Amino acid sequence: MNKVINIKPIDTDWDWLVQDYRVHSSIYTSDSIFTQEMSHIFAATWVYMLHESEIPNVGDFRKVWMGSREFIATRDDNGEVNLFANRCSHRGATVCREHQGNGSGFTCPYHGWKYDNQGQLFGIPGKTAYGPDFKKRELHLARPAQLASYKGFVFATLNPGAPALEEHLAGARRFMDEWIDHQGGAENIQVAGAQRFQLECNWKMVYDNAGDGYHVPFSHQSLLMMTNERYGGGDMSYFADADRSGMSLYSLGNGHTVIDQRPDMFRDNAWEQQRPQPGRENFEKHVKDSVAPNDIQSTLENAVGAGMNLNIFPNLLLIGNQIQVIQPMCAAATTMHWYATRRKDADAELNTIRMRTQEDFPVMGEMDDATNFEECHRGIAISPEDEWIDISRHSETGKDIESDDGLVVGPVTSELHMRAYYTQWKQLMKSNPTLIVDKSKVPA
Ligand code: FES
Ligand SMILES: [Fe+2]
Repeated sequence: MNKVINIKPIDTDWDWLVQDYRVHSSIYTSDSIFTQEMSHIFAATWVYMLHESEIPNVGDFRKVWMGSREFIATRDDNGEVNLFANRCSHRGATVCREHQGNGSGFTCPYHGWKYDNQGQLFGIPGKTAYGPDFKKRELHLARPAQLASYKGFVFATLNPGAPALEEHLAGARRFMDEWIDHQGGAENIQVAGAQRFQLECNWKMVYDNAGDGYHVPFSHQSLLMMTNERYGGGDMSYFADADRSGMSLYSLGNGHTVIDQRPDMFRDNAWEQQRPQPGRENFEKHVKDSVAPNDIQSTLENAVGAGMNLNIFPNLLLIGNQIQVIQPMCAAATTMHWYATRRKDADAELNTIRMRTQEDFPVMGEMDDATNFEECHRGIAISPEDEWIDISRHSETGKDIESDDGLVVGPVTSELHMRAYYTQWKQLMKSNPTLIVDKSKVPA
């Protein structure tokens, strides 16, 4: 019988809340811990904002989120990407009320203050009512302390002390580069629309699962059974005995991890292993009719996913050919954005079948995961006296091995992923960051 022992009040003894092989369930349910995450995680470290291809033209803008903070990303008249808070410098109204669009700037709907697409204040109705010192106040829209792009992936942080973005990405850079290569290179990526859905769970339920190779044969049993019965195996069937597969799970530093499915997925014929897709036969005929015989297989495999679950802490997941973004809403709610990608160099047929591939998992499999995320949150919330979440799998088998380059590699069902990112989470929650926004004039 499980006994209730030692219930401690929720506190911020981080070493008690996050231990080597277990974490305390309050870190998922506590509103005060969520509030601290919004400063210590979703502001003090680099957070993924958007891909540059989403705002390709001068004047393009899109709302983006750094945890609970809302920003506007723009492409300014110089062709540069800007980021500033969606918060008027007058009395705080949001200046942008549309999800995305194109324009020369933003006029606050409340009293009509005007900002250009670099966030600079340039127009105030009834300006003579302000005195000579008014110009000295810094009233441009607030810019984050740091903004940087890695090969088109735009990140930002409010922490001027955060290390350079490339340093932060650490071992994930190699896998990002390989993911980008699968899309035909950085310039070739066109991020398209997103499927979005709301989950009644803490954001970490999603991140926990992003590096979980253990759940697949159980959570996605019906999907695998259907694929197996109809096709005699196929996509993801290698997860049935995952620890004996060719796949690996890597801890890449700074909370980033990857499940590398490629050794199994591309061993035989990744195209043949796809689940049913409308238009699949026509596409295959089109490829066979239109490309050189030696290029047929590689062209067909452009339509399948990159074979990675690459997790960039805290909010960016590159899965298949998709860019998933985790947006925490409150301790018990999360919004997920699944962005599809197109290849700029591909014909309509290839981009269409890529879209069918990218619809496959969110439609066929993600609902299995979403249900488990919500039921994990519910289970934790309804049994607060049962305090701990176990993350010890493979920690005592000696199979998580540190390689010479500092990466740790383990069996694909290891909970190495959670142990690695909670180490980073704890370090950040213990830190004492300075968070800064800049409202001074934008440098020329
Ligand atoms: S709040 Fe924006 S102009 Fe007054
Ligand atoms: Fe899953």
